[in-house]
Amino acid sequence: MNFEIVMNRQVIFGENKVEMLPGLLKWYGKKKVMLVSYPTTIGGFKRVADLLTSNGIEYASHVVTGEPDLKIIDGGRDKFLAEGCDCTVALGGGSVIDAAKSIGMLAVNGGCIEDYQMRGKEVTVEPPLFIAIPTTSGTGAEATKTAVVCNNNNHLKKSLYHTTMIADVVILDPTFTVELPRPVTSATGMDALSHAIESYVSLNASPLTEMYGLKAMELINKYLKRTCEHPDDLEARGAMMLASYCGGVAITAGIGIAHIMAQPLGGYYGIPHGDACSIFLPGAMTLNLPYATKKYADIAKALGVYVDGLSDEENGKKAIERVRQLQEEIGAPKCLKGYMKEVPDMAELVDIIKRTTGHIKCNPKPLDEQLMIDAFNMAMED
Ligand SMILES: NC(=O)c1ccc[n+]([C@@H]2O[C@H](COP(=O)([O-])OP(=O)(O)OC[C@H]3O[C@@H](n4cnc5c(N)ncnc54)[C@H](O)[C@@H]3O)[C@@H](O)[C@H]2O)c1
Ligand SMILES: [Fe+2]
Repeated sequence: MNFEIVMNRQVIFGENKVEMLPGLLKWYGKKKVMLVSYPTTIGGFKRVADLLTSNGIEYASHVVTGEPDLKIIDGGRDKFLAEGCDCTVALGGGSVIDAAKSIGMLAVNGGCIEDYQMRGKEVTVEPPLFIAIPTTSGTGAEATKTAVVCNNNNHLKKSLYHTTMIADVVILDPTFTVELPRPVTSATGMDALSHAIESYVSLNASPLTEMYGLKAMELINKYLKRTCEHPDDLEARGAMMLASYCGGVAITAGIGIAHIMAQPLGGYYGIPHGDACSIFLPGAMTLNLPYATKKYADIAKALGVYVDGLSDEENGKKAIERVRQLQEEIGAPKCLKGYMKEVPDMAELVDIIKRTTGHIKCNPKPLDEQLMIDAFNMAMED
């Protein structure tokens, strides 16, 4: 067995643990923060800005609207340098964390983000201190070395990564997710579930990623519906924040056909990432079941639907049923049709997938054009 895993240096979990931020920055000797966030009315911006100011720490703010693109990231690099920042703090979901991850890297490595995303430019300098404070529970971007970027020039949604781009410190403070709207709560929860399931059956799964994946599944099965129904239930919010983090560690084992489809087509059709994952997940499980049958029986156990005496295949089907049931319970989308204005050109879609996620080789059922088409057709069924 061979595997490698890249993990954060420090993970802090608990209500109001954001208050540790000034002390951490001071310990690292930082003078000016590049604070990357959503527009300042969302996601607790004022709380963090006040915390910095009242502790005598300067910051410059960079706002991310929508999912991060070349302009947002290159603009953030310019601001980081012009303001003389020496560290990056992300306060937001996957969009903000990925933007911040890229901005800090670019500030010291030079060039523009497209150089790294499309032209294979290598990261050669360690980015400055990067602290991530998630405000959604889904992407697990705080636990990964990967940034997903929308390219304004060719309209592809493609990842870039480097070992040193992972957040040094993560603060998982559930008080930041109590205002998360229900559609974002459910969508991001389905993203986390997709990470847990796809990584568990990945051909590159390791005992470590499997452990994190199963834990994420158990937590999501128990708490996702509760966070949707009781947004200010801090125990449930905390459990989902942990689940998202565990899913993020797990997905370092590589994405499968649900994400291979959801990432580029979500970008193409303008579907929020978690919704796109939700749409492709049950079909992906069905396609992969014959190739990872025992693992799907384990997933049934983690999702609480395993039945003694049934075959692994039958238990695997129970796991798929449970995912569909969860979608119903939380109102997560199941079908791609509503997002389309015209009949899709399959050759064009396959081309987009090939140029973004089509190189990924760890899906249990080998990836080829037919698998892409089958996954697409299953996502079109109501
Ligand atoms: N780097 C990775 O490993 C990784 C993994 C999966 C997905 N992603 C990427 O992450 C992005 C999606 O991130 P996301 O799903 O977290 O959503 P997001 O960051 O795009 O946020 C979704 C919406 O929720 C709102 N919001 C967020 N936090 C809020 C809060 N606390 N209160 C009120 N509103 C809030 C935002 O304003 C936004 O409108 C995509 O680009 C996806 O490709 C990255
Ligand atoms: Fe994802």
